[in-house]
Amino acid sequence: MVEIASTDRVFILTGAGISAESGIPTFRGEGGLWRSYRVEEVGTPEAFRRDPRLVWEFYSMRRRVASAAKPNPGHVALAKLERALEDRLFLCTQNVDSLHEQAGSKRVTHMHGELFKSRCDSCRRAPFDDANTYEPPAEIPRCECGGRIRPHICWFGEVPFDLDRIFQALEECTVFVAVGTSGVVEPAASFVAHVRRRARTIYVGPEEPANKFAFTECHLGKAGEMLPNLFPG
Ligand code: APR
Repeated sequence: MVEIASTDRVFILTGAGISAESGIPTFRGEGGLWRSYRVEEVGTPEAFRRDPRLVWEFYSMRRRVASAAKPNPGHVALAKLERALEDRLFLCTQNVDSLHEQAGSKRVTHMHGELFKSRCDSCRRAPFDDANTYEPPAEIPRCECGGRIRPHICWFGEVPFDLDRIFQALEECTVFVAVGTSGVVEPAASFVAHVRRRARTIYVGPEEPANKFAFTECHLGKAGEMLPNLFPG
């Protein structure tokens, strides 16, 4: 169990691993998405400019898979922890699915965007809820301004969202927990190094992450099994 004192402020970073038991593939593990798709073809602004249809096929497939997924006990444990800690918990996820919210988490910071939102690639229209799939022969959706509608996802080479709020929460935290993330994609992979001199640093996942040396505690196991025991609420 992770002891949390009444003065502790907890920062939790989740990655694709927390959604693995819900049936959403990770990126780099067995059966990972980057094993069957090339990032350069579906995960960059250049890819979208070059072949928006292929990019929308990829995100339409991800919307279908995520729509069929349900939160697992790992998501539920973190939603319970939020109810116990209230504003002393900051939940930052690299995931674009909505399983944290479906499990009851009210304050979720999606630093890599949200799968069920789209936005215009040209004008400053705000991102909007969109669970539609766009695959041939459907046309690429267009904005009133004439621009192409794109997934509201942070692609490689783009700046993640809410970094100022995230770094503020990192400054304040006394306990940092990373769950189900391989620790290879920046800036999230460096969050633990940013806090390790003044916060307890805990990793939860079935295998050691690439940035394992920055963690003081590693709990090896699946999120859905470990989190309810680590944070019994
Ligand atoms: N419970 C917890 N962790 C798990 C589980 C599980 N049941 N199954 C797998 N994992 C772990 C793996 O050991 C791995 O460390 O989840 C991690 C998944 O790593 P990645 O696939 O690299 O996913 P992530 O770290 O979230 O990727 C970061 O890269 O492609 C970009 O934008 C994308 O947000 C993503 C970012």
